[in-house]
Amino acid sequence: MGYIDIHCHVLPGVDDGSSNMDETVEMLKIATSQGISDMIVTPHYKQGRVGTPKEVIDRMITEVEKYAALSGISIKLHPGTEIFYNSSLEEKLESGWLATMNGTEHVLVEFSPSDNFQYIRNAIDDLMGLGYQPILAHVERYQCTLAKVENVRDLKRMGCKIQVNASSIAGTLGFKVKLYTKKLLKEELIDFIGTDAHDQKTRKPEIEKCAEVIRKHCSPEYADAILFENAKNDLMI
Ligand SMILES: [Fe+2]
Repeated sequence: MGYIDIHCHVLPGVDDGSSNMDETVEMLKIATSQGISDMIVTPHYKQGRVGTPKEVIDRMITEVEKYAALSGISIKLHPGTEIFYNSSLEEKLESGWLATMNGTEHVLVEFSPSDNFQYIRNAIDDLMGLGYQPILAHVERYQCTLAKVENVRDLKRMGCKIQVNASSIAGTLGFKVKLYTKKLLKEELIDFIGTDAHDQKTRKPEIEKCAEVIRKHCSPEYADAILFENAKNDLMI
């Protein structure tokens, strides 16, 4: 098994991700060339705005894997969703309309960059109360967690899992974000890496440079854990 990308937008024509099947195939080519063997596809869900039901995601995965195979690409896709939090997710989750992470109790959840920490904390608490295991998507995007590492420690103590984008660790988003992710790596606060890829040009499914940085600054055990072992053990079941 290669790297496991737990956060990406490769489904063709779905929300702001890949625009069509050709782009999807190109993105998958890039992903496999980067050593990625598995991707959890995570189209956006935002109540009243955007959302793709699990049954459609499943159908599209079959279709995409078929096209990928025709192009000689061997990659395994799994269903998921990047859920923009609201306080009435229960029905959509319980009914199975929303795809959790590969059918597990894990849910990838995101917030507005300016949401305050108490709101995010309460939301994580709410999801855990419903019996789900939240994974906070791109922790480096929120003002309240970026400004204060203690807030990330607090979420971890609550039992929340933390995802960081590969591009942030690689330094694509600038020095400040890179430095921040280095702090998180040093304290081993990160659980998962995702590419959060949206296209084949500017937000590509690249992970090699990030993996290099991780291997340089972390123990081999922790590097393996966040690059594939955690995803394999928690999400590939
Ligand atoms: Fe995303």
